[in-house]
Amino acid sequence: MLLSFSSFLRNPLSKNPIKNPNLRPPNSHQILHFYTNGDEPTYQTERGLQFETEGAFFRHESATGRDLGVLSASLYKRSKQQLRVLDAMCGCGVRSLRYLAEAEADFVLANDANDFHRRVILSNLKNIDRGSGENKRWVVTHFDANRILSECYLNSDFFDLIDVDSFGSDSSFLRTVFNAIKRGGLLYLTSTDGYSSGGHRPYNSLASYGAFIRPMPYANEIGLRMVIGGAVREASAQGYHVTPLFSYYSYHGPVFRVMLSVNRGTLPDNKDYGFVSYCNGCGNSQSYSFEELGRMSCPCSNTTGSRSLVVSGPMWIGPLHDATHLTEMLNLAEQWGWVGNGTGIDLEKLLLRMIDESDPRLPSGYIKLDEVSRRAKVNSPPLKAMMSAMHKEGYAASRSHIVSKAVKTNCPMMDCIRIAKELQGC
Ligand SMILES: C[S@@+](CC[C@H](N)C(=O)[O-])C[C@H]1O[C@@H](n2cnc3c(N)ncnc32)[C@H](O)[C@@H]1O
Ligand SMILES: [Zn+2]
Repeated sequence: MLLSFSSFLRNPLSKNPIKNPNLRPPNSHQILHFYTNGDEPTYQTERGLQFETEGAFFRHESATGRDLGVLSASLYKRSKQQLRVLDAMCGCGVRSLRYLAEAEADFVLANDANDFHRRVILSNLKNIDRGSGENKRWVVTHFDANRILSECYLNSDFFDLIDVDSFGSDSSFLRTVFNAIKRGGLLYLTSTDGYSSGGHRPYNSLASYGAFIRPMPYANEIGLRMVIGGAVREASAQGYHVTPLFSYYSYHGPVFRVMLSVNRGTLPDNKDYGFVSYCNGCGNSQSYSFEELGRMSCPCSNTTGSRSLVVSGPMWIGPLHDATHLTEMLNLAEQWGWVGNGTGIDLEKLLLRMIDESDPRLPSGYIKLDEVSRRAKVNSPPLKAMMSAMHKEGYAASRSHIVSKAVKTNCPMMDCIRIAKELQGC
């Protein structure tokens, strides 16, 4: 028998946590800690909000990812006057707390399959008035993400923002998530699978995101493109079209986070969904559409399918971010005092760099200055000098938020090498 959504809301403290064979078992060390450590709870503070983390998976380093999510959520609320959030893998509930307190969400469903976290989640949300009936502001549940997403769909209970902060390359929820999201809503996805993005498990990335990923020198950008591409494909199968508002890589983990805007529509014809090649011979990268399959070659050799060419995809090959949305996020962060005055210089720097990276002329990937200097056989020129020379020659060039000594550019590697030599007086 199917449990109705309202039935588990009335009785959310399940005595029989679901037995899903796919569910990752909670970290035994964490549970041990939860039961055996009789200490007072450990408090953390993020943007002035205090919460406990005891027993739940929590990373202080993910604070920027939470900042970005809250900024997008708040902008959504301001423009649509409503915000219902499903925090599908909420851990200790810190995001739910932040969506309620900072983005002023009307309602948050805080779910984590592990019901050992119940006490800590409830404790963290207790300072937000729970409300009742139609005005209920939050509810805590303990179900597998796929199950709660399906229940919401079956009950026509749709959300403006769904946040799935999953481990590894778990993408099983991509099948169910689009059913529970409102048209025009936001989907915040996470992957922590650095092996797949690094091209070390191409069949794993193929299974999870529909992309055969090979080793490439800009693996961490590929990781973001792989996640967006996986969502684009699944969305399209269900009549939706997604585009990234921002894409954020963080080396802790590593973690790949993407905020997607979800709208009705199918896969467009599609210049933004395709393949990327890297030539191990000359270091050049190129993008290809599906129509160009079988005609891939590098300018350094006229042989189609040259052995030096490594190809990954299909994946998202359009802009990583939406510059307008990022600019609004930055303005809001300034209003909230999250940047400037020496308080949030990193967030400001990150958002500014992402805005630069949004230039639609910039192709996938970045070029590391070390690689240019190695190929040019000269010392690495300063990044600023390289970029300004590229701009002078009419190329698009920006820094990358992923690697500090790299440039995103449509300048081919051959010209990068020439520019580096010229700058070094060779
Ligand atoms: C990365 S942690 C969440 C951290 C939290 N979002 C934060 O910002 O601190 C992932 C959480 O997902 C839960 N989880 C794992 N598999 C799940 C599933 N299939 N459905 C729901 N929750 C799941 C785990 O218990 C864990 O607490
Ligand atoms: Zn080549």
